[in-house]
Amino acid sequence: MTDFPNGFLWGASTAPHQIEGNNVNSDWWANEQVTPGMALSGDAIDSYHRYEEDMRLLADAGLNAYRFGIEWARIEPIPGQFSKAELAHYRRMITTARRLGLSPVVTLHHFSSPKWFADEGSWLAESSVDRFRSFVTEATTILEDVDFVCTINEPNMLAMIGSMMKSMESGEGDWQSPTVEGDTQMVLPAPDPEVGRRLAEAHHTARDILKQRTNAAVGWTVANQALTAKPEFEDVLIEQRYLREDLYLEAARGDDFIGVQSYSTQEVDANGPVPHAPNPDNTLVGTAFRPDSLGIAVRHAWDVTGGVPILVTENGIAITDDTRRIDYTSQALHHLSSAIADGVRVEGYLHWSALDNYEWGHWEPTFGLIAVDRETFERRPKPSLAWLGEVARTNGLSLS
Ligand code: FCB
Repeated sequence: MTDFPNGFLWGASTAPHQIEGNNVNSDWWANEQVTPGMALSGDAIDSYHRYEEDMRLLADAGLNAYRFGIEWARIEPIPGQFSKAELAHYRRMITTARRLGLSPVVTLHHFSSPKWFADEGSWLAESSVDRFRSFVTEATTILEDVDFVCTINEPNMLAMIGSMMKSMESGEGDWQSPTVEGDTQMVLPAPDPEVGRRLAEAHHTARDILKQRTNAAVGWTVANQALTAKPEFEDVLIEQRYLREDLYLEAARGDDFIGVQSYSTQEVDANGPVPHAPNPDNTLVGTAFRPDSLGIAVRHAWDVTGGVPILVTENGIAITDDTRRIDYTSQALHHLSSAIADGVRVEGYLHWSALDNYEWGHWEPTFGLIAVDRETFERRPKPSLAWLGEVARTNGLSLS
């Protein structure tokens, strides 16, 4: 049996840099031009122009929510100079989502920042929180009827990307995608806690402004890694989990919701997270096929935040065989439903991702419910889209 509360949100997620194309004023765009081994985002999948078609596909399938981001680098391409036209563009996206019956879940920062912000020293610069504050203040002018706002996506990954960029600049390391483990079979470095604390400050600052100026529920979205201990390494687990995840979950206490983002699990031993062993069942990003990770993740987030309501803002799988995507998602939703039955409050499930897109330095990992021809930009819905739409229309009953 699966059971989901009335009014449950069923949707899919995206991020601006991964789908829009030509995000030329961003730090990611700049890095792509100069970093060996990093694929270019280029036109991405041109969702900047095709967002209505994308939203319509989701709505027609039966989904009732869409998570997308607004791009700081477009809205404030030069410090202090805000583009009214770009704000109007994102306002049109919100209006379009509403008109199509999709509740907009809007992310304000999803990995990419304006290039000038990175040049100033990114999140470690003294000015960073003020810079973010003025962007968020400007953004509130278009958010009046948005139900959920995510301030910063995966601050724990963002703090890790910070550590990585620093070691690349000092010539110590090579480029490694934050989400593609197969790159090196190495474990990603731990997030820099100094950056983490700064991000928490930025999040709380943004939360205050959003609470004053909008009616939105406010939260941030954390990469939940469903870490478990190898026998005898419980202590290391607690330490590693704090550094990589719990610091960020604790900062969500007092928020309206916590965004849970879960894909797989990972074991921890004396050296930290253990790389996933090669296995034919592994996903295209090198992680193990573990749909149960979602249940572990929501229960852990619920415990650490002390009962902050949960919105699953990302869950999905990079795979070519779409029947495996349906299989994974179906199992993940059963685990989610049993956490709900045990008393965890969950308000919605947003699948990653709506479309195959630019996976932070790579094009091969396909997470989408919709495939895209990158020459013509033609959208081709996969069977998993209709399947998830049916789950949404029946509020989960079709899973039973
Ligand atoms: C998450 C990111 C998202 C996407 C998925 C696969 O870490 O938030 O942009 O890359 O992983």
